[in-house]
Amino acid sequence: MQKKTGVAVDRKQMIIDSEKIRSSEFLLIGEEADRLGLECYVIGGWVRDLLLHRSSNDIDVVVVGSGIELAEAVVKRLGRGAHLAVFKTYGTAQVKKGDLELEFVGARKESYRHESRNPIVEDGTLEEDQNRRDFTINALAICLNKDRYGDLLDPFGGIEDLEDCTIRTPLDPDITFSDDPLRMMRGIRFASQLGFYLSSETFDAICRNRERINIITKERIAEELNKIMLSRRPSVGWKLLDKTGLLQLIFPELAELKGVETKEGKGHKDVFLHTLQVVDNVAMETDNLWLRWAALLHDIGKPKSKQWEAGVGWTFRNHNYLGAKMISKIFKKMKLPQNEKMDYVIKMVDLHMRPINLIEDTVTDSAVRRLLFEAGDDIDDLMLLCNADITSKNEDKVRRYKQNYELVKQKMIELEERDRIRNFQPPVRGEEIMQLLGLEPCSLVGELKSAIKDAILDGVIPNEYDAAKEYLMQLAKERGLV
Ligand code: CTP
Repeated sequence: MQKKTGVAVDRKQMIIDSEKIRSSEFLLIGEEADRLGLECYVIGGWVRDLLLHRSSNDIDVVVVGSGIELAEAVVKRLGRGAHLAVFKTYGTAQVKKGDLELEFVGARKESYRHESRNPIVEDGTLEEDQNRRDFTINALAICLNKDRYGDLLDPFGGIEDLEDCTIRTPLDPDITFSDDPLRMMRGIRFASQLGFYLSSETFDAICRNRERINIITKERIAEELNKIMLSRRPSVGWKLLDKTGLLQLIFPELAELKGVETKEGKGHKDVFLHTLQVVDNVAMETDNLWLRWAALLHDIGKPKSKQWEAGVGWTFRNHNYLGAKMISKIFKKMKLPQNEKMDYVIKMVDLHMRPINLIEDTVTDSAVRRLLFEAGDDIDDLMLLCNADITSKNEDKVRRYKQNYELVKQKMIELEERDRIRNFQPPVRGEEIMQLLGLEPCSLVGELKSAIKDAILDGVIPNEYDAAKEYLMQLAKERGLV
């Protein structure tokens, strides 16, 4: 495997030169620690991100002694606008001032019992504290005390792992993962987020310990999945989840998409691999987390709808509709939000075939108007998803699709300019229909309203008040209402 270089070579110099570590807050923390006679270090994700040139707002400070004592001193020094929150049970304290967020904790060693995630915690040395951390790249510490300011403490070769782009545990990975099984998800998330590899021991230990994921709450798993989804190529994370066997445990519906069935020499595409490509395609175009989820779920209804039809081959009729129906249950089970974000994903999954169908049929004005009406303001996202969904290996087919796709897009722009369908509101409201025709509220009002809507979408009348009113009166006459 080719060696990748993730960090600058002269680390020590880089840390010293870094404006971030020279910032007034760190100097101040160091001064207060010296005054109190406490050893203190900035540790964990912030150090990792500093060395990877990534931005990071969460700053963890570990103190050999009382983290709370140092936090209290620091908040006083920071003065007006600084707030302190103390969590006595955990021996931690949080200091906030504007964007600055500092977590203080006393160095500790932890041991876990098999049946619980709650560790037995005791005071410890810096090295014991580093031991209990999840990965070598997250166990790096920089000293803030004046006499050793900027010294990097890296007892487990975290720097080398940063340079080799490797995720590895400081201790035996079976212990690290068994202690806190969420770390299996975190390891895969870091691989996806940072473009790193899992060391083979780490990978094997995840496979061995995967069943332990069952003791982790769905909320925490969802948090990691969202981070995987927000990485540059989410497929990296999802493939690792699959290969380690975690996917089957945390998201069986997605694992169902795997594999190819062949009959009479005809196979269908592997929906799992296709799906991951669509997610990556969407990720290249947008950071919209929920559009990325829609991409992941766009074909989730395929296993349920798969059929072998003689003379036709494999079909997945209505898979968009079946998939859209599955989403609320999946979101609920996985503790993903049950709100307008979910509704958006449902809508995208439901409509994801529509632009392609337009491409395949004749692209009539009426069909384009209806699509604009149903997608509303989300039409651009839908078109993006639809474009990302074109993953055929057949170049001719791809070229044809893309050309037609552009045609549909152009037509949408023209129709939207003319008819303003996107945020369509019927130009004649229900109230007015009742008034004009002397009707009480009843289903007929709804029928007349949707007849007006259909006439506009089908291009029978323009999207204008006068035309709509005239059309209504004509309908009323035909039905003997006036
Ligand atoms: N940590 C750990 N095991 C966990 C969670 C956290 O050992 N299950 C340690 C790691 O040393 C980590 C630090 O606690 O670096 C801070 O945790 P957190 O803020 O959750 O993660 P970060 O590494 O900072 O990364 P991110 O903010 O991207 O989650």
